[in-house]
Amino acid sequence: MSNTQNQMLIIFGASGDLTARKLVPALYNLYKGGYIPENFVVLGASRSNLTDGEFRRKVIQESSFLKDKLKEDVEDFIKSFSDKFFYEDLGSDYDTYYGRLSKRISDLNTKFRTENNYIFYLSTPPSLYEVIAKNLSEQGLTKQEDGWKRIIVEKPFGYSLETARNLNKGLQKYFDESQIYRIDHYLGKETVQNLLVTRFSNSIFEPLWNRNYIHHIEITNAESVGVGNRGGYYDKSGALRDMFQNHLMQIVSLVAMEPPIDAKPESIRNEKVKALQSIRHLDENTFYSNTTRGQYLASTINGKKVKGYREEEGVANDSMTETYAAIKFYIDNWRWKDVPFYVRTAKCMPTKVTEVVIHFKPSHHRLFEGTNTDNRLILRIQPDEGVLMKFGVKVPGLGFKVETANLDFYYTDLVDAYVMEAYERLLLDAMQGDATLYARADEVEAAWAFVDPIIQEWKTKREKMHGYPAGTWGPQFADNLIDGKRGWRNPGPNLADTEDYCEL
Ligand code: BG6
Repeated sequence: MSNTQNQMLIIFGASGDLTARKLVPALYNLYKGGYIPENFVVLGASRSNLTDGEFRRKVIQESSFLKDKLKEDVEDFIKSFSDKFFYEDLGSDYDTYYGRLSKRISDLNTKFRTENNYIFYLSTPPSLYEVIAKNLSEQGLTKQEDGWKRIIVEKPFGYSLETARNLNKGLQKYFDESQIYRIDHYLGKETVQNLLVTRFSNSIFEPLWNRNYIHHIEITNAESVGVGNRGGYYDKSGALRDMFQNHLMQIVSLVAMEPPIDAKPESIRNEKVKALQSIRHLDENTFYSNTTRGQYLASTINGKKVKGYREEEGVANDSMTETYAAIKFYIDNWRWKDVPFYVRTAKCMPTKVTEVVIHFKPSHHRLFEGTNTDNRLILRIQPDEGVLMKFGVKVPGLGFKVETANLDFYYTDLVDAYVMEAYERLLLDAMQGDATLYARADEVEAAWAFVDPIIQEWKTKREKMHGYPAGTWGPQFADNLIDGKRGWRNPGPNLADTEDYCEL
C-alpha cells in the first residue's frame, strides 16, 4: 500500500511533550495503516539521558497518549513497532559535538537499510533551528548525493517579521528551500484541504467566488478553553501570534487564492502567496477602526468559577496580551476589490468552533417584497465538519412569503472514509516528499508582513484592551467591527444551529 521510500526519522527534542502526544501516535496510526516503509527507523535525540528501552517505554509502552490504541493490538504488533525506535543523548546542549549522533545515524542506516534518506524533525524552540541545521551540515548530513534529506520545523515560526526572516535565512544557509517543511497543523485538517476541493472541483461555486457576488467573508476560530498551563508561553505570544499569523492566514489564503495551474505543491503555494501578498496592510487610519482586541475575565460558567486571563499561572497580573483578536481587512486584487474579510480568533468563547462563512450579496432585483434571503455558504472546519448552504424557499400557502432553509452535508455521512489526524497526514506527506500542505518561506513572511504591524501598533496601547467574561462571544462592541447591522455569526457546536444558539 505504501509508496514511501525507506527512511529514518530523527526527532530533536524527542523527550518533550510533542513527540509522545502527537508524533508517536501519528506514526503508530501510519504503521497500522500500512503506510510505513519496510525499512524505517525513528531516532530520538535530546538532552535527556535515556536508553533505547527507556525511550520506547516513555513514548510507546507507557505513554498515556497511546494507551487506548495499544489495548486494541496484540503484543507482537506493538513490539514490532517499538523495535523501530532508538535514542541518542545529545549531552548538555544542542550546540555540541554531533560526531556521535552522526555515527549513530550511519550505523542505524547500514543496519536497517534506510538508504541514507533522512528527515530531521525539530521539535525544539525555534532559537535552536539554525544551531541544529549548522551542526547537521558540518557532519555532511544535509547533502543529498546519496539519499534525500529533509527538515521539518514546528511553530512558532518567528516572533515577528524580522525574526521569521532570520529563521528562514538561518535554515536556508544549510538546507535548500525545497528541503524545508514548515508545519502548520491546520493544513493537515481534511476540512481545510476541502476548501480547495470545494472551490476548484465544483463549477457551481467558483463563478460566484468574487466581488460581483460575495458581500463579505467571515472566518471564526473560537476555543472554549483558556490558556490552561501554557500561560508562560502564551503571555509572550497572544492570539495574533499564536493563531492568526499562522493557522488563520493559511485559511485566508486558501479562501482567497486564484485557481492554481495544476495541483502540484509549487503551483498551489504560488497562488497562496500571491493572495497573502495582496492583503492591504493596515495603517494609521485603519488600525483602530479595523481591529478589536480583548482579554477574558473571570466568570461563572454552568455554576463553575472560571479564572480570568490575568489570574492564569505564568501570566502577568497587568498583562496586555490579547486572548481575543478580530481584524477587518481587504485584499487588493481583481477578484476581491472592496470585499471585506472579517477574521477573529479567541480563547474562552462559548464553544469550540472554526468556520468560514461566505456571505453572498442579495439578489439584484427583489421580486418578493419584505423578504430578505441571506444566501450564505458555511464551510465548517471543526467540529461537526461539513458544508451548509443557506437559501430562500417559499413558505407554503398564499402569496410569496420566503424563509431561509438549510442544505447541508456532514463528513460523518462518509462512513467508509478513514480521516487521518493532522499530524498523521502531514508526517506522511513529508515522508513522501510532498510539501503542498507545508508553509513556504515567502508565505510565512507575507503573513507576518500583515500581522506584525498590528502587533507593533497594539503594543503602543492606543488600541483599547476590552475585557470579556469567559464563556461569552468576546468584547461588548465586537459586532461593531462588521459593517451594517449584521454582526458576527456566533455558531453553536452543530453546523446547522441557528444564529442565536449559544452554549454556555
Ligand atoms: C495551536 C495553538 O497552534 O493551536 C493553541 O498554539 C491552540 O493555542 C491550538 O489551542 C488549536 O488547535 P486546534 O486544532 O485544536 O484548533
